[in-house]
Formats: sequence, C-alpha cells, structure tokens
Amino acid sequence: MLSAVARQRVLARASAWKASSSFLHQRWASTTVSSNLNSVTEEDLAHFSSFLAPSSILSTLSPSNTPADELTPFNDDWMGKYKGRSTTVLKPRTTEEVSKIVKHCNEKRIGIVPQGGNTGLVGGSVPVRDELILSLSNLNKVRSFDSVSGILVADAGCILQSLTDYLAPHSHIMPIDLGAKGSCHIGGNVSTNAGGLRLMRYGSLHGAVLGLEVVMPDGTILNQLSGLRKDNTGYDLKQLFIGAEGTLGVVTGISILAPVMPAATNAVVLALPSFDQVIPLFKIVKRDMGEILSAFEYMDRESYTLSVKHGQGKGLSEEEIEGAQCFVLIETSGGNKEHDEEKLSNLLEKVMDPDAGLVTSGVLAQSPAQFESLWAIREGIPEAIGKSGKAYKYDVSIPASKFKEFVDKTKDHLLSKGLLHENAIKGVVGYGHFGDGNIHLNIVAAAYTPEIAAALEPFVFELVASYNGSVSAEHGIGYAKTSAMRYSKDQTSIELMKKIKKLFDPNGIMNPWKVLPQ
Ligand code: FAD
Ligand code: MLT
Ligand code: ZN
Repeated sequence: MLSAVARQRVLARASAWKASSSFLHQRWASTTVSSNLNSVTEEDLAHFSSFLAPSSILSTLSPSNTPADELTPFNDDWMGKYKGRSTTVLKPRTTEEVSKIVKHCNEKRIGIVPQGGNTGLVGGSVPVRDELILSLSNLNKVRSFDSVSGILVADAGCILQSLTDYLAPHSHIMPIDLGAKGSCHIGGNVSTNAGGLRLMRYGSLHGAVLGLEVVMPDGTILNQLSGLRKDNTGYDLKQLFIGAEGTLGVVTGISILAPVMPAATNAVVLALPSFDQVIPLFKIVKRDMGEILSAFEYMDRESYTLSVKHGQGKGLSEEEIEGAQCFVLIETSGGNKEHDEEKLSNLLEKVMDPDAGLVTSGVLAQSPAQFESLWAIREGIPEAIGKSGKAYKYDVSIPASKFKEFVDKTKDHLLSKGLLHENAIKGVVGYGHFGDGNIHLNIVAAAYTPEIAAALEPFVFELVASYNGSVSAEHGIGYAKTSAMRYSKDQTSIELMKKIKKLFDPNGIMNPWKVLPQ
C-alpha cells in the first residue's frame, strides 16, 4: 500500500551541498557595484561576541580566525556559479540575537545576506561582495502545532523535511514540497515564495502562510505571527515579505496552515508519443481525477533520460519508452483508497487505450519504494543536470501549450550560433510543473562562458515576454535576474517596489544588489 508518509520520504536528502571548483564566476572583477556599505571589522566582531555564543560566529577576522574554507559553503551557491567573499557568518539562536545583529549592521552600514539552506538557484543567498552572512540555521525549533486548526508555528531555520517529519505523527503535511527539502529552510521557502510540487493542490505560500515574525532592517521585531485563518485588519503586511528574498527584513518565525495528510497516494509515469498529447491528456486527467489530482509534472525526453542515466530513479524499460517524446508524472492524493484506486485505474484504462493514441506506455507505482523511485525521476532532474555540466537555469511561466516550442526555439537559436556541441552546450532540456504553467528550461554547458551567456540573454527573456510570460515563476530574481525583471514588470511597478524598499530599508543594508534593477 502506498502511504503519504512514503511520499514525504522521497528524496529526503536531495540536494546536499554541491560545490563546483572548476568555475569561478568572475562577476566580482567585472561588476562595478558602487556602494556606501562597510565591511565587517574586528570591532564589529567584538560587538557581536558580546551577545553571541562563540559557536555562533565564523569569521576569518581576529580573534575568531576561522579558516577561509569553512566559510566556503556559505559563500558559494548551490550551482557553484556565484561566489561571495564574506569574512563573517553569524548564526544567532534567538530572534532577539537577530535583532541585535541587524540593529548594529544598520548603524554601521554593513550589508547583510540572510541565508537559509543556500539552495536558491538565482544567486540571491550568497554575498555579491563581502556582506555579512546571517545564517538562520540555529533558529530551528517548532514553536507550536494545533492539530484542530492545523496551524504550525516554527522558527525560520527549520529544514522543510524536518517539519514534514514533525507533522507526520500528527497526520498532517506541509503545504509545500520540493526537491531541495532535505536542505532548504521554511524561512527560505517563504522568502522565495517557493512553488514546488504541491502548488497545484495547496496553492502558493501567499495563501498558506498565516503570519510572520520579521526583524526589520533597523532591528525592530515585527510580530505578525497570527494564528488566525481570517484577519482583515488593515494592509496585509506579511505578503510583502513572502518572496522578498531577504531584501526587506529577516524572517525569523512562520505561522503556516498544514493540510491533513491524505489517506491514500498514488503515482504514475506515462510516456507520450509527442508533446501534442500532453494537453488533451491533462484535460482528461483534470476532469476525471477531480479533487484527488495533486501533481501533473512534465519531463521532456532529454531531461527524463538524463535523470535515469544518473541513477535518480527507475521507471519504464528501454523498450517501453521507445518512440516516446515526453513524459508526465501524475500523482493523486485522496481520502479513500478504494475510491481513488478505482478512479485512477479507470483513467489509465481510458488513456492507455491504443485507439486513444495518447500514451505509449506507463508505470503505476506498486509499492512505496516504486512510488519513491518514480518521483525520484522527476525530482532528481536538477541533480542529474548538475552532474552533467554547468546549468544555465530559466524558470518561467508561459502558456503550457508553448512548453515545447519554447525549448525548441532556444535550441534552434543556439544551433544557429554554433554553440550546440560537446565543448560548449551539451544539452537543452525542459521539465517542470505543467499543471502550474511553469517550465524549467536548462541549458547544460561544459562551462559557464560569456559567449553562452550572451547567446542566451536577452534571447530567452524576449521569448518569454513574447508569450506574455514571467521570467521568474518560482525561483525568484536574486542576483541573476535583476536586469530581466523589466520583461515581466512595467516601470510603474518597479518604481513602486523601489519606494517600498527605500521605506523599509533606507540604508540599503538588506541583501544589497538583489531583486531590484540598479
Ligand atoms: P536560500 O537559498 O538560503 O535563500 C534564498 C533567498 O531567500 C535568498 O535571497 C536569501 O537571502 C533569502 N532568505 C533565506 N532565508 C531567509 C530568511 N529567513 N529571511 C529573509 N530572507 C531569507 N524552488 C522552487 O520554488 N520550487 C522547486 O521545486 C524547487 N526545487 C529545487 C530543487 C533543488 C534540487 C534545488 C537545489 C533547488 C530547488 N528550488 C526550488 C530552489 C530553492 O530550493 C528554493 O528557492 C528554496 O525555497 C530556497 O530555500 P533556502 O532555505 O535554501 O534559501
Ligand atoms: C524543480 O522543479 O525541479 C526545481 O524548481 C529545480 C530546478 O528547476 O532546477
Ligand atoms: Zn520547479
């Protein structure tokens, strides 16, 4: 029998730290970031030492003298593409300690990068220069859980998987799930407004988050940790911090609505003869599965093959996928096992009928292990790409009908530039959250080079704009996409965002050079 608990164990440890040493992104040398911000000094360190435990301070400065390589996992991002030069990482244990750090940095004009699990994919979680890194990893306690309302209140530094594990005995789940669950923090999830694999079912964090505790850029603690489902008293300030990527304050506590654990969960992977079958199939699945449909994920042939090749999961045999152009993973989660299984088997009978011409072959999970293995194919794609080369990642919202065209046009463009070969670009793959209209276009290169970057941008952004899409569906803007924001937001919106930033953070200390175009 397939249980929801099994589902949550999928890839629990996915995405452990993966640093790349072969490429040193040269932006520090080439970027002309001007700033009024100051570096951390030994005097600042002495001040931090007056209220932080020695184990909460990592600094290459005296008297800490931490070896520089111990700071590397904080300075380098998950892709090994962005590398900061911070001398100091602080790991406060309480909200009050966070407040004291931020207050001091504001007075001394020291830039701060709030950091969760450092699994972000847009260079937002590491310093641009030598900003202080404020790691939330020691703020990692569950504060309360109410099994009647389903409201969980937790510190921002709780790892997503640990919250899922905490809720399991209470028969609840987190409303969010993603491949980085073994490392990312709930505070990072909120700060990036992460989407992930359950958005189709449970909606975005703008709905699931009921309240936040935030340390403002002057050190003031804003307590909006509401335990209420309904609260219409004035402006909903918490929404501004959801997806702010650390530019407006440090999230220290989260109140979030946890759904009841579904009694029965199933997964099936289907191979499709061509992309033309995906939309007809999606329509049937949505109609026939109704309320029990919890995921509809898309993988093109290249991303599926890459994942299986790198051992991320096992699905169909070689013969079964012969001629298949793409794959979908369908998950159902419901309250009645017999009812759900009957629905799913009726669906499979219908869509796998050779006369329907929709599906070439498929595999339905027969055990918790197989369920995990099917999910591992989809969730393991980012890691498989990382093992194959250096990824240029584009996470976009476009009409689902354009997913294949988007990938093909990019491929054709790179071919016309003479870049599609083993020594430059090894592959162009597309996968993602079909049910949410969110595709991940990944260009797998032998190395990060200015030539490839110039071929890709602004080409990809212009293509997205031509579909009236968004240049960031779920990963955020970070450092990587600040100049691309204008493709998805008009000048009026950007100016208003800048005013909000100025109001909250007049000295510009919070995650400088991130999100907003300079
Ligand atoms: P970090 O990477 O540490 O930080 C991300 C940003 O949030 C930074 O700008 C940082 O300054 C800010 N921040 C972090 N914590 C705080 C805080 N407490 N207060 C204020 N600001 C803060 N993303 C998705 O949306 N959907 C996916 O399906 C998905 N899958 C992924 C799979 C893999 C294998 C990997 C490596 C990444 C994936 N991501 C996905 C991207 C990433 O995991 C998410 O963006 C995640 O929410 C980041 O959480 P984190 O704790 O690692 O944050
Ligand atoms: C995913 O859906 O797998 C993630 O957003 C990560 C990625 O695209 O690399
Ligand atoms: Zn995603």
